[in-house]
Order: sequence, then structure tokens, then C-alpha cells
Amino acid sequence: MDDSDRVRNDFTGDLAAAASLDALEAVRIKYLGRNGALTALMRQLGSLPAEQRRDYGARVNALKDEIAAALDARKAELARAALAARLAEERADPTLPVSAGASGRIHPISQTIDEIVAIFGEMGFVVAEGPHIEEDFYNFTALNIPPEHPARQEHDTFYLPERADGSRLVLRTHTSPVQIRTMLAQKPPLRIIVPGRTFRCDHDATHSPMFHQVEGLVIDRHSHMGHLKGCLIEFCRAFFGVDDLPVRFRPSYFPFTEPSAEVDIGCSREGGQLRIGAGSGWLEILGSGMVHPQVLRNCGIDPDEYQGFAFGMGIERVAMLKYGIPDLRIFYESDLRWLRHYGFLPLDIPSLVRGPLT
Ligand code: DAH
Repeated sequence: MDDSDRVRNDFTGDLAAAASLDALEAVRIKYLGRNGALTALMRQLGSLPAEQRRDYGARVNALKDEIAAALDARKAELARAALAARLAEERADPTLPVSAGASGRIHPISQTIDEIVAIFGEMGFVVAEGPHIEEDFYNFTALNIPPEHPARQEHDTFYLPERADGSRLVLRTHTSPVQIRTMLAQKPPLRIIVPGRTFRCDHDATHSPMFHQVEGLVIDRHSHMGHLKGCLIEFCRAFFGVDDLPVRFRPSYFPFTEPSAEVDIGCSREGGQLRIGAGSGWLEILGSGMVHPQVLRNCGIDPDEYQGFAFGMGIERVAMLKYGIPDLRIFYESDLRWLRHYGFLPLDIPSLVRGPLT
């Protein structure tokens, strides 16, 4: 065994023993560094007879390349293992409960949606969802709003560019299309609640081009106006945390319900301060009604066999009323100071069984 074989043997042992990137660097310096083993081998070149030099030089260079390649391969292997270990160690489990010291806040819109879902969830409603970009059919036509109907203009619809067949998709102007999607996809009885984003071309202190609604739909054989009233009175009282909150049903008109009613809650405005509860004033918060037979037919449901009720409500509006938030635009400004003030602690999870929601 000559010196270069010995160096190769030593290197193989050292390489196998290097268990970290630091240890590997020490091995590199020991063999390839300026005062390393390979430099020492090269230095011996001068002491060899001239006819052996060429051969010897080639062998040492080959060994050098071999060592460099082995170091590179081992380095990549160790880097991969280090990354895998780090990923395992820093793994975050998003299903763990939030820690009590967390400083983030839940946005009032999210909190309000959770509260509404908690109340209706107790009554047996399940959450349903639909797309933001909607077909005209679901947003209007199937809801008994034909092409020339004035409600189409009132909705200030955002239209997408015309498609090849001349039709246009819309940003849904209300959550009501999810009623249609659900009735077409599922068989009654149905009891759904649909929180979600909606869009209308409108912008001032009480309107935003993107806002949120929650829709409710009940379809079965026997639900009637009395159930609609009981359900919504119960909801208003639970949501605002006022047990004897006056709730009033006013005749109204929506193309997709017959009869239709708007729902007002009692309030007082004494001293310029709005207070939810008994008083001389009323505030409108909901639209509702018995589902129009034509809407049922549009969804393949026989109105002689099934009936039900529906309602729709603006989430920003009820959040503003409940939490005394005066301007709607601030909801979307991502202002951290505002969020710290009006936001909710992550552990403040709404539920009816844990006590009042307020
Ligand atoms: N979709 C209506 C709107 O955006 C609200 C509404 C009214 C929904 C009555 C309903 C309903 O389901 O029954 O103005």
C-alpha cells in the first residue's frame, strides 16, 4: 500500500464518521485544505524519479477528485437530513387549540358569522356554501327574477365579460343563489344556513362593494309562517342577548318569497344613543318569506308536497348594531389598532351552551 492508498483509506473512515456538516467541513480541511493530506502527497512529487512523476501526479489528482466528489455527495445527504430534522422539529399543528397568550384577534365579521352559525346550529341548521362567481340562472332567473325584472337593476350587479354564447357570469349579489344550488343538489327536508361574501357596485359609509350576507332556508312538508316567525324571533333575541327584544314582521316584497316580510327589532334613540331593546323605534335587520312555489318548481320540488321559508340578512349591518361600530368601511382597512379594539380573543368561541354570546 502506498501513501495515496493510505490517504484514501483514512479518508473513507473519516467520511463515514462525519455525522454533521461541521464535522464534514473538518474532514474537507484535513484532506483538501492548504495544509491537508493531498497537498502533502503532491509535495512528494519532487522527490520521485522523473519517469514516475507523471503517473504519480495523475493518481493523486484522481484521488483529489474522488475525495471532492465524495465530500459533495455526503454534504448533500447531511443537508437533506438536517432539513428534514428541522421541518420535523418546527412542525406546526394547526388543529391544536390556540395558546392563551396569543395576541391575534378574530375579526368582528368572522366572530359575527360564528355567532350566527352557533345560534342556527342549535336549531338544527347546517352550513352550506356556493361560489362567488355565479351563473345568472342561480343568482336571478331561478329565484324568480326574470331578465326584465326591476330587481336586477336594484342589485347594481358586477358583470363579467360576455362569453361566446352571449351570456355573462356575475359576482353574486346575494347569498340566495345557494338556496337554488342546495335545492337542486339535495332532497328535502332541508335546513341550511349560508354565510358568505356578496358583491354590489355601491360604496359609502353604509355600503361596500364587497359585503357579507347570511341566508337561511328551510324546506319540508309542514313548515309555515309561524315557524318562520318563531325561528327569527328566537334568533334576534339570542343574537342581541336581549330576552324580551321586541321583534316586528312587516309585509314586504321579494320575487322569491310569497308572502314576504321584513323583520324589525325594537330600539331606542334617546339622547342620540342607539340602544337595542324596548323603545319607541324600530330597526330593519332581515328579509324573509315563504319560498315562492315557482322557485320550488324551478328546483324540481313539487310545491303541493313541500313548502318552507327563507331569510337573508346583512352581516356587517348586524355586527355594527351589536358592537356599536359606526362606519362600515373600517371593516376592510386591516387597521391593527381598530382590530385590537373591536376584535375578539381567539378563545372567545361563540356558543349558546357556554352562556350569553354578548
Ligand atoms: N336576497 C335578499 C337581498 O339580498 C335578501 C333576502 C330576502 C333573502 C328575503 C331571503 C329572503 O332569503 O327570503 O336583498
